[in-house]
Amino acid sequence: MKIIQVALGPKSYPVYIGSGLLAQAGRYLSQSGFSGKLVIITDPVVNQLYGEVLNRRLAREGFQVSTLLVPPGEAQKSLETAGRLYHELAECHAERTTPILALGGGVIGDLAGFVAATYLRGVPLVQLPTTLLAQVDSSVGGKVAVDHGQLKNMIGAFYQPRLVIADTDTLKTLPAEELASGLAEVIKSAVIRDEKFFSYLEQNLERIKALDASTLEESVFHSVRIKAEVVTQDELDSGLRNILNYGHTIGHALETVSGFRLKHGQAVAVGMVAAGKISSRMGILKESELSRLKRVLEQAELPTEMPRLKVAEIMQAMQHDKKVRQGKVRFVLLKSIGNVFITDEVELSLVEQVLRE
Ligand SMILES: NC(=O)c1ccc[n+]([C@@H]2O[C@H](COP(=O)([O-])OP(=O)(O)OC[C@H]3O[C@@H](n4cnc5c(N)ncnc54)[C@H](O)[C@@H]3O)[C@@H](O)[C@H]2O)c1
Ligand SMILES: [Zn+2]
Repeated sequence: MKIIQVALGPKSYPVYIGSGLLAQAGRYLSQSGFSGKLVIITDPVVNQLYGEVLNRRLAREGFQVSTLLVPPGEAQKSLETAGRLYHELAECHAERTTPILALGGGVIGDLAGFVAATYLRGVPLVQLPTTLLAQVDSSVGGKVAVDHGQLKNMIGAFYQPRLVIADTDTLKTLPAEELASGLAEVIKSAVIRDEKFFSYLEQNLERIKALDASTLEESVFHSVRIKAEVVTQDELDSGLRNILNYGHTIGHALETVSGFRLKHGQAVAVGMVAAGKISSRMGILKESELSRLKRVLEQAELPTEMPRLKVAEIMQAMQHDKKVRQGKVRFVLLKSIGNVFITDEVELSLVEQVLRE
């Protein structure tokens, strides 16, 4: 088991990473000062796999547990579902001190996190991420949100959890494409900050795909460590935190234009390669580094070529994105593996040219 402390002054919190940790949840909750009533928010798939056992175990350890279910899928990240959850929380007499446990993928984490941030002006949030993406990305850093129509994460808050427990055993039941989608963020973490971790991934991807316990623990650990380092320096996303968006400027546009047929990780994989190509055209990145990035993504069974979508629509979607300032698209570019920087100087015509290739 590994622990990372996300250092945010009085809002600091531990992230526990390893195999078999859900069985220890009661102990970690007690250590964090929780007792009595708690509420698990999860979806029926995850509830059947892990929630029911967790609920029974916590009840045996003296907690009074209520479970609130939300159907799976991005569509549930809505104010409407949040509204229903407020109602159910009130019905089960959840109070100011009652923690909400978000058990599931990023959808549950973002939604339950948003509800925790707003119900009674904020109740404690505990993240129990069960997808690779949620373990390495969405459960750490405190961004919580719901969507507004087609506009993703439009309504939200910065609201740090009190505790994160990432049980890597839960990844064993994850569909292969969900695992690949999370791997895109793992690879991204290495690309933006840590060449040594990138080499580790180059050498160990097969073991990760085979869900080898110690390789998974190591990979989640380094990804969370990198995210925590960045978030610690820029909690409210006013500068450095932007580097976590490497591959996301084009990635988000691809997701939108594909009508979310492309999974987030797949779109980000293509976006990372495209941002690498832009960097290379600008003479910033060596071709050999770009090839390394492509090779690792291919090993992870992620796409690296542009899907067949209309370039004009992608350009338009990109310009609607939050990362557009004064008509220019903000980009994270790659200098070398492990080394990125943020710039506003990327010509839209170069982006378009790379997209057309
Ligand atoms: N807050 C942030 O900083 C942040 C960062 C990245 C992504 N996100 C958000 O995360 C969301 C995507 O999250 P996701 O990729 O985890 O998808 P998801 O939450 O939709 O989960 C994917 C599917 O996997 C199932 N599932 C979850 N755990 C499982 C398990 N252990 N075994 C079997 N099935 C399991 C779920 O029922 C769901 O159907 C998006 O809404 C995105 O906006 C947030
Ligand atoms: Zn992402």
